[in-house]
Amino acid sequence: MIWNDRPAEPRNWPIADAMASDPAVDATWLAPDRTDYPAMRILITAAQIQKRLSEMAAVLAPAYRDRPLTIVGVLTGSVMFLADLVRRLDMPLRIGLIQASSYRGETTTSGELYVSPGLMPDVRDRHVLLLDDILDTGQTLKRLVQDLRDQGALSVKVCVLLQKKGRQIHHVEVELVGFEIPDEFVVGYGLDYNDEYRQLPYIAVLPAI
Ligand code: XMP
Repeated sequence: MIWNDRPAEPRNWPIADAMASDPAVDATWLAPDRTDYPAMRILITAAQIQKRLSEMAAVLAPAYRDRPLTIVGVLTGSVMFLADLVRRLDMPLRIGLIQASSYRGETTTSGELYVSPGLMPDVRDRHVLLLDDILDTGQTLKRLVQDLRDQGALSVKVCVLLQKKGRQIHHVEVELVGFEIPDEFVVGYGLDYNDEYRQLPYIAVLPAI
């Protein structure tokens, strides 16, 4: 496909070299030539993520064997994590998605959470494994665990890819954590800044934003 709406620019994507030396990264995963990405520091490589997912699946599969399982991902950040993890779980399961967003309107308190009711999966008589990209203050997951319990789930357990150290204010019991990370703003593998960078196959720290 040839697009003529942007002049050709020389490749200058600082993380491309780091990715090319990562055996888990197929060259075709590289984003198209961009000059507008800031330099990023890779915190967790694609290979490290994929290896950890296999370990996590090995813990989860026996725990849910013979139980009616629904894996619920929190949009949008958990989509990569969900897709890669479920493909490692060789067992019957259902997938649901849930959307939660913080109100930022003038008439509501900042940080108040809105959960889209239309997207709430039917979890009655099901064991729920709630997946999120990152546990930060815990506000989102605490609320979602309660909502899913209220919907009649047999059990609700939480699994996160990342947990930020020293940030939790709201108590959430987390069953399984992929990686503990320092208190830095990260993007990639589902995590975004202004809805960008989600497609990166690794987790990186954005320079001061
Ligand atoms: P709470 O505070 O409710 O926050 O645990 C969870 C949500 O906050 C977002 N979040 C981040 N998103 N990089 C991101 O791209 C980060 O470093 C980060 N820290 C928190 C994220 O949406 C998560 O679900």
